[in-house]
Amino acid sequence: MKNEIKIITKNWGQINPRRIEEYISAGGYVALKKFIEKMTPQSAVEEIKISGLCGRGGAGFSTGVKLESVQKEPASSADGEKYFICNLDESEPGTYKDRSIVDNDPHLLLEGIIISSLIIGAKKTFIYINGNYRKQAEILGQAVEQAREKKFIGEKILNSKYNLDIEIFSGAGAYICGEETALINSIEGNRGEPKMRPPFPTQCGLFGRPTAVNNAETIANIPWIILNGGKAYAKIGSKKSPGTKLFIINGAVKNPCVAEVPLGVKLEDLIEKYAGGMQEGKEFWFAQVGGSSGRLVLQKDLKMKMEYDRDGKIPLGSGAILVVDKTMDIHELLLSWASFFRRESCGKCAPCREGTFRLYEIAQRLKDGEISERDKTALEDILWTLRNTSFCPLGKFAATAFSDAIEKLKLLQKYE
Ligand SMILES: Cc1cc2nc3c(=O)[nH]c(=O)nc-3n(C[C@H](O)[C@H](O)[C@H](O)COP(=O)(O)O)c2cc1C
Ligand code: SF4
Repeated sequence: MKNEIKIITKNWGQINPRRIEEYISAGGYVALKKFIEKMTPQSAVEEIKISGLCGRGGAGFSTGVKLESVQKEPASSADGEKYFICNLDESEPGTYKDRSIVDNDPHLLLEGIIISSLIIGAKKTFIYINGNYRKQAEILGQAVEQAREKKFIGEKILNSKYNLDIEIFSGAGAYICGEETALINSIEGNRGEPKMRPPFPTQCGLFGRPTAVNNAETIANIPWIILNGGKAYAKIGSKKSPGTKLFIINGAVKNPCVAEVPLGVKLEDLIEKYAGGMQEGKEFWFAQVGGSSGRLVLQKDLKMKMEYDRDGKIPLGSGAILVVDKTMDIHELLLSWASFFRRESCGKCAPCREGTFRLYEIAQRLKDGEISERDKTALEDILWTLRNTSFCPLGKFAATAFSDAIEKLKLLQKYE
């Protein structure tokens, strides 16, 4: 049986996302009112910490802890600015959960963004959106204007002491600009490449000011937590990672879908119950969990629980799941992954700049059946170098699926 708890998708298909009045009639912006009238930034952040909500952008870091650290950070400069940034870059192939939130319920996201910004003491917030998502940028622009008219954004929000301005910033559509320090560089007008950490953005982020960067799905949970309390949220999902998650299930399944499911669900259930199982006549081979940067899961591991577990072997990443059947040409797939990372490597560090190119060349030769002994040794070296010496996680991501294909699918066996 499906577990139907709806926090993020409750209004999907029920209201017209273009009309703020319909969101308000469905109970929208009540959490913002509650925050302003009955809570302090400190009590709100406490609820978020109790909820156990962690980041849905990939790393799974505690949202309450992140917001609290920016809240507590002394405003370092004369202008006293702090910034909140909603990360809507979403360039991972096969991932479209954040865009789906905008398409179906932009005001839920906006309400979460407003509350989070006020919690940390930001007066200016950016929604960083991939430049290719013009429709979603337009929907958000309209939502911001509607919220401004209702005094949910602007000076003296709902006649309170709070002021907030929100700007939608369109990036150029680079995958690396989803990484928070590259994203900050991009808004600052610099080249979209990662920065050295520490200092972390929570201390020294946008324009050198304390900054919280959070994924759109993460933030869409905030209104529910403010309304219902952290304890109620902590009861949903698994102990290790409470709450629900938007999973995007694609590939050789009957019903590809975006499904909101409590965390802790088994991968097997996502495929069988939510995506309708395998297509007629197709036999499961493996699933890739977490988008192009994700690991490969074989049949024997399908009972694994989907949760944010720092010690877990299979990171959830963005929550995208590609189900692959036995008719798929793995060489084609490897080539498309390699081609993606070759294109998206920002070029800042040599291991990734060179490694992703060499990986692509070898993937091409593998596909053509022309792999040499030298290629096999080089492949091991390149994968090791990408995993261990790249400046940022993108280099490691480029090696993940390739390494799993060698180890779990015995990719090179037939060449031995
Ligand atoms: C190469 C790369 C791409 C990323 N892309 C995204 C993205 O598109 N959206 C996102 O929210 N986080 C992305 N992240 C993670 C962000 O750096 C950051 O951890 C996240 O926005 C924090 O939000 P959260 O704590 O709510 O998950 C990416 C990280 C890397 C290394
Ligand atoms: S690992 Fe790749 S994306 Fe990251 S800094 Fe190095 S070249 Fe850029």
